[in-house]
Amino acid sequence: MKQTTIYLSLVASLFFAACSGNSSSEQENKPIVSQKQMEASEQASAGSQVAHPGKAVYDKYCLVCHQADGSGVPGMYPPLTPNEWIADKDKMIHVALNGQSGEIEVNGETYNNLMPPHDYLSDQELADVISYVRSNFGNDLEAVTKEEVAAARK
Ligand code: HEC
Repeated sequence: MKQTTIYLSLVASLFFAACSGNSSSEQENKPIVSQKQMEASEQASAGSQVAHPGKAVYDKYCLVCHQADGSGVPGMYPPLTPNEWIADKDKMIHVALNGQSGEIEVNGETYNNLMPPHDYLSDQELADVISYVRSNFGNDLEAVTKEEVAAARK
C-alpha cells in the first residue's frame, strides 16, 4: 500500500517534470510533494481500482512469480488470468494453501515447476488474496471466506 503510494507519487513527479519542462535536478531537490502531484496520485489510484485487502498480500507473496498484472512468466509461472484453476474455488484454495508441483496445463500451456505452500498465512490473509485474484486480472468470480479456507486447512 505504502509502496504503491510512493510509486504513484514518483510517476506523478516524473509526469510533471516532463510536462513543465523544468530541469530534473530542480524537481529532485523539492522535498515536499505539491498539491497538484497529490491530486494526480489520487486520480491515478481512482483510475485503477479501490484497494482490495488482498492486494497487499498478493504484492508480498505472489507477485514475485505471477507478476503485478497476473500474467505470469511463460514456461515458468502460469498466469492468474481466467483459467480452470481459479474458476474452481476448492482447487484454488488448495493451491494457495499447499502449493503445487508437477506437470500442469493452464490455458493450453504446460508448466512443470514448483509453487511453495502458503499455509503460514492466516485464514483471513488467504481468503483475501484468493478473493483478490478471483476479482482481478480479468476474473469476475465470487469471493472466498476465511471459513472456507479454515475448512480446507483441516
Ligand atoms: C515461487 C513462485 C510462486 C509464488 C510465490 C506463488 N506461485 Fe502460484 N504458482 C507457481 C508455479 C510454478 C505454479 C505452477 C506449478 C506447477 O507447475 O505444477 C503456480 C500455480 C498457481 C495456480 C494454479 C495455476 C494458475 O495459473 O491458475 C494458482 C491459482 C496460483 N499459483 C496462485 C498463487 C497465489 C494466490 C500465490 C500467493 C499466495 C502464489 N500463487 C504464489 C509459482 C508461484
